Amino acid sequence: MVESSPNIFAEDPVVLPPGGPLYLQLKRWIEDAVHSGAIKPGEALPSERDLAIKVDVSRVTVRKAVQHLVRDGVLIQRHGSGTFVALPHQRVEQSLSQLTSFTEDMARRGMAVRSIWLDRGVYAPSPEETIVLGLSSTEGVARISRLRLTGDTPLAVERASLSSRILPDPEQVSSSLYTHLEKAGNRPVRAIQRIRAANLGEDDAKLLDVAVGSAGLNIERISYLASGRVIEFTRSIYRGDTYDFVAELRLGDQPILTGSQK
Ligand code: GLP
Repeated sequence: MVESSPNIFAEDPVVLPPGGPLYLQLKRWIEDAVHSGAIKPGEALPSERDLAIKVDVSRVTVRKAVQHLVRDGVLIQRHGSGTFVALPHQRVEQSLSQLTSFTEDMARRGMAVRSIWLDRGVYAPSPEETIVLGLSSTEGVARISRLRLTGDTPLAVERASLSSRILPDPEQVSSSLYTHLEKAGNRPVRAIQRIRAANLGEDDAKLLDVAVGSAGLNIERISYLASGRVIEFTRSIYRGDTYDFVAELRLGDQPILTGSQK
């Protein structure tokens, strides 16, 4: 929904904070208004032309101030619809030592999870899926691909592959894959997770509502049952600006060498 311009822009005359070039004064004025809450996240700024008239500066000055604020993440520009105050992104912390599901990670932070289904079905496995999941020649692969969101903020695209023997009907997964597996006595107990930095390609950037080439995290999780069988091979792409992975580090068995001992 496009919000209308807030009242602050109706002030007459607008008094810019003194000091430095005009575009920086205007930038500071907008920044202050955002930080004080006078302009709220999601609200639209007046057009470049209207703002130039209201503040009595040139359109070039407005453009420059706005460009800097977009670069700093204070404002966002949507092609064809205007300039808006950016929504604050609450970063999500995920422990690297707990085998948790996306739903559990979010629930712990009081966030509700939503998934948009991109694909779910049983297919002939790729050679990689056959090897990683240890599939026999008669097994198919159940694939579920979801865009995972909290509220309206997309956080990750997750593409999971499982043996069709474990998940014969992917349509039966309602919201949480791990809850579904748990009910069938197939909740993974161990996983190996590999995390790599990535720049988002066109399709994933569009799904995650960020610019093409934005920073992202590629996460590959291979999960195991207590029996040692691989149950899940999931490739996820997380938005780099919303997720923090946190690992607790402990001193190992190696003694610390002091300067004199080296
Ligand atoms: C995490 C993992 C995925 C796993 C998913 C299950 O996000 N990266 O490998 O499939 O959780 O989440 P849920 O049970 O919410 O579907």
